[in-house]
Amino acid sequence: HDLPHLSLCVSATDFEQAAKAVLPHKSYIYASTSANTGLSLKGNLDDWGRIHFRPRVMRNVGDVDPRCRILGHESPYPFYMSPMGTMGAIHAGAEPEMYKGAVRKGIHAVVSTASTKSSEQIMQRYVEEQESMKRASPTVLFYQYYMPVDRTKAIALMGIVKKCGYKGLWITVDTPVLGKRTADRYLQAEEAFAVGLEESASSWETGGDNAFAPAMGGRPVQGQLSPHTTWEDLVWIRKEWDGPIVLKGIQCAEDAKLAMEYGCDGILLSNHGGRQLHTAPSALMTLCEIRTYCPEVLKKLEVFVDGGLRDGNDVLKALCLGAKAVGVGRPFLYALGAYGSKGVERCVDVLAEELQTGMRLLGITSLDQCRPSLVNASRLLNE
Ligand code: FNR
Repeated sequence: HDLPHLSLCVSATDFEQAAKAVLPHKSYIYASTSANTGLSLKGNLDDWGRIHFRPRVMRNVGDVDPRCRILGHESPYPFYMSPMGTMGAIHAGAEPEMYKGAVRKGIHAVVSTASTKSSEQIMQRYVEEQESMKRASPTVLFYQYYMPVDRTKAIALMGIVKKCGYKGLWITVDTPVLGKRTADRYLQAEEAFAVGLEESASSWETGGDNAFAPAMGGRPVQGQLSPHTTWEDLVWIRKEWDGPIVLKGIQCAEDAKLAMEYGCDGILLSNHGGRQLHTAPSALMTLCEIRTYCPEVLKKLEVFVDGGLRDGNDVLKALCLGAKAVGVGRPFLYALGAYGSKGVERCVDVLAEELQTGMRLLGITSLDQCRPSLVNASRLLNE
């Protein structure tokens, strides 16, 4: 195989090359694709580098404590696993293999509605793994919710999620329709061309996430939120779901404020890994906007960010600007594809080591010391 030895993966970006070398082309495209000309994804990756630290020195950083709490659940690090659908296309062990890595390293994860395995199967395997670890503060799974169009089905799904023991509902609100996934379009066009069709039969409206419908055992792929959803729906959702609610995919200060007014427990600033709206803002830009226009949101809600995070140091930047924790997506998916749960564990270790070294070099010993004066965001804001 062309697969490098796992020890050669020393940064979160190394897993992509490894995955590319071993995954079927179609699977790699599924993981890596982004919207339109790729500017949303590029912005996510680049904006972390536009924030600079303002480190303090001589602060006795012998011992550092990188623990935090996510929706009340203790986490060893302020990052968690982002929800990603159809993991069966990436690894034969699918979601259970991914969450095995998460449990072993003690980090929390959000499970996608569009998973290959059912939410019951995923939780059952998770609990088995969990029990073998015997942790004092166990890790948890949250549930990423694409709301079905039909309200009866929507309520039934919430019932299942609750019964399974998922600890919070993360409603994805940036996907009323799937974005234009350009690499998927090329793939569809090539496949159609190869069999002599003018244009792919699979419609452009459904987009690329449906390319894996057969891998889902013929189940309908719920790869999007009901496009009819409005803010008012939060009122009845709140009656049906008594656990925490996080809106995933908030992209401006006005909507952050609305989420607060509608009583959400958290918001996740995200542009879906650059897979939805063309030239959407990065989570860091939205976070800065919130700091300016409605800073009260940062006090009242748990604010999470995701998109393009590839280095443990970057987690600290988000926390200094007021985020509670950061979601990591593709690096874990590539690690899973190339090395299974061992790769996922290694990816957690890589990020955790960078984070702890970063804390020391920044001059802090616990995460409650993260504050705006430790970063300079002027390049991000003025460029
Ligand atoms: C996603 N994402 C996603 N989000 C969601 O709410 N439901 C889902 O089913 C999926 N599926 C999915 C599949 C794949 C292959 C990717 C790469 C992403 C978005 C995900 O939760 C997260 O917002 C981004 O992946 C974060 O960006 P990075 O870390 O991948 O750059």
